Amino acid sequence: MTEIYFNTKFGKIIHGDSLQLMEKYIELKSVNLIMTSPPFGLVRKKDYGNVDAMDYIEWFRSFGHIFKRILRDDGSLVIDIGGSWIKGQPTRSLYHFKLLIMLCEEIGFHLAQEFYWWNPSKLPTPAEWVTVRRIRVKDAINCIWWLSPTPYPKASNRRVLQPYSDSMKDLLRNGYTAKKRPSGHDISEKFSVNNKAAIPPNLLALPNTESNSYYLRYCAAHKIKPHPARYPSILPEYFIRMLTEKGDLVIDPFAGSCITGEVAERLERRWVCVDEVEEYLEGALGRFDGENLKANGSQENVYYKIPRPGLLWDEEEEEALPEDGGRNRPKRKRKIASLPKSEYTEELQDTEQMVVQYTLLEKSDSEYNEQN
Ligand SMILES: C[S@@+](CC[C@H](N)C(=O)[O-])C[C@H]1O[C@@H](n2cnc3c(N)ncnc32)[C@H](O)[C@@H]1O
Repeated sequence: MTEIYFNTKFGKIIHGDSLQLMEKYIELKSVNLIMTSPPFGLVRKKDYGNVDAMDYIEWFRSFGHIFKRILRDDGSLVIDIGGSWIKGQPTRSLYHFKLLIMLCEEIGFHLAQEFYWWNPSKLPTPAEWVTVRRIRVKDAINCIWWLSPTPYPKASNRRVLQPYSDSMKDLLRNGYTAKKRPSGHDISEKFSVNNKAAIPPNLLALPNTESNSYYLRYCAAHKIKPHPARYPSILPEYFIRMLTEKGDLVIDPFAGSCITGEVAERLERRWVCVDEVEEYLEGALGRFDGENLKANGSQENVYYKIPRPGLLWDEEEEEALPEDGGRNRPKRKRKIASLPKSEYTEELQDTEQMVVQYTLLEKSDSEYNEQN
């Protein structure tokens, strides 16, 4: 059963199963953008309806077909999806790649472009592989598959320009001499034309650290548990701006706290947000308070820098690689306090730090999992 839960000037929240809603009530070829973050095929089941990674593709297939039917030929489907680890071993599931391949090869979507959302605030999890055995690095990106029913969805990168980098500003000030690059690319003088802003890359740097938003305050005031896996508003805003015009129709079939609807409302797009869990929608109502809609438009001016790999390579001796590939946990060393000073080596200090860090991370790991 599906029912209208809430109406706004531009959109609606629907309570119920989005598959049913799309099949029965959404007109064929009427939607400009499906912007969504489905439940992820995580190994550990979460309390928002995750299905096991193995069944994920099967589960998603019917959504894929209906998405293709309701999208306009110049529409887009944007899916934010996180990766997942195979249970009990340090290897990754292929489920999100399989999903992409199924959507393109079986259902007939085109991959307009893949994006990567880098979340600088992600914790180094799973702690076991990353901070204890130290055999994997931090997984800090989500994949964003931008798909389209035809190769030419409506889009313009002019809507999502970013400020020039300092080196580009220098180049614009001091000029560029046209020449061939070592790669063979011919860089013409046009390269130094000031277009006022730069074309962004397909890497989006966005933390997900909302702590004092109107939505959270609303949930707290109404004793509602905030949705545990929200994406930051800039993410839907980026794609809504790049891929739709005012008045276009945006749908989020896995709407959770209805952030897609909030952004669409501010940008004057028509929208439909659907979720099957009523409690999430109770919290979502806070987003459509006039006060919130006015307040949320401005964002902080933040730049992120990633160090070039290798900055420490010449400073440290190479540590031996674990011969077993990390199959066995490193042994915890004897209690440092009881050792004579001469045995208190740097290696032990490191291990002690690692154990302390691990304990903290195990804790934050479970807090993190609760949130995601
Ligand atoms: C990852 S969350 C989306 C969170 C959302 N992007 C946000 O920022 O608040 C996925 C949501 O899909 C919902 N969901 C799963 N299957 C559904 C279905 N068949 N119909 C409607 N909602 C569904 C879950 O209840 C969950 O809230």
